[in-house]
Amino acid sequence: MAESTEKTPRVRLFVALELPDAVRTGIKIWGARELRDPALRPVPAENLHITLAFLGRRPAEQIERVAAVLASCVSSAPRIELRDPAPRPERGRARLFALPVISAMATELQSELSEKLISERLYEPEKRPFWPHVTAARVRSDGRGSRRPRVVTKSPGELPAALRQPCFCRRLTLYRSELQPSGARYVPLAQVKLLGPGQQ
Ligand code: 2AM
Repeated sequence: MAESTEKTPRVRLFVALELPDAVRTGIKIWGARELRDPALRPVPAENLHITLAFLGRRPAEQIERVAAVLASCVSSAPRIELRDPAPRPERGRARLFALPVISAMATELQSELSEKLISERLYEPEKRPFWPHVTAARVRSDGRGSRRPRVVTKSPGELPAALRQPCFCRRLTLYRSELQPSGARYVPLAQVKLLGPGQQ
C-alpha cells in the first residue's frame, strides 16, 4: 500500500558534538601510527565526532524541526576527556575501535536533546544506554559478500598524554550522512555554538 509520505525524500540524519580541530589532528597523527593494521579503515579526521543521537532515515521536511530542537538546547560547551581505544563488541571479532569519552556534561546534553527530540516525535531512542565515544577506525569485512569483520592482528595502542587532556566541544551539529562506496560523507545542515567557560 503506497502512502504519499513514502514519496517524500528521506535523509539519514544524526546529531553530534564536534571535536576541536587540534584534537582531530592529534587523533589523525596518532592513527597514522596506531591504526596501521591492514584490517582497519581509519575514520578520516573530518569525520571524527561524538554522536549524541542517530535519527536514521527521516523525511527531509523534518530537518528544520530538528534544527530548532538543537537551538533550544541550553548547554555550555561540554568538557570531555578521551580515553584509550576500546574494541566493539568487547568480545569476539571487533567491528570498530572507539575512543571512549568521559563527560558528565555531554551525557546531560544528550539526555536533554534526546528527550526533546522524542517529544517532538523526531527520534526513537536506542534501547542500550548512551555510550559517548569517538569511532576512530572500522574493521574491514572478510570480503566476497561476507559482513564478518576481518581479524585485527595489531590492536591500536594507547593515546599520547596530550590527547587525554580535557578539552571542550564548542559546536553541536546536525549532519546528513551520505553512504558512498568510498566511505561515509557527513554534510553539516545546522549548527549551534556552545559557550565555553568565561564566554557569554
Ligand atoms: P558509530 O561511530 O558508533 O558507528 C554517523 O553514521 C554516526 O551515527 C556514526 O558516528 C555512528 O556511530 C552513528 N550511527 C550510525 N548508525 C547507527 C545506528 N544504527 N545506531 C546508532 N548510531 C548509529
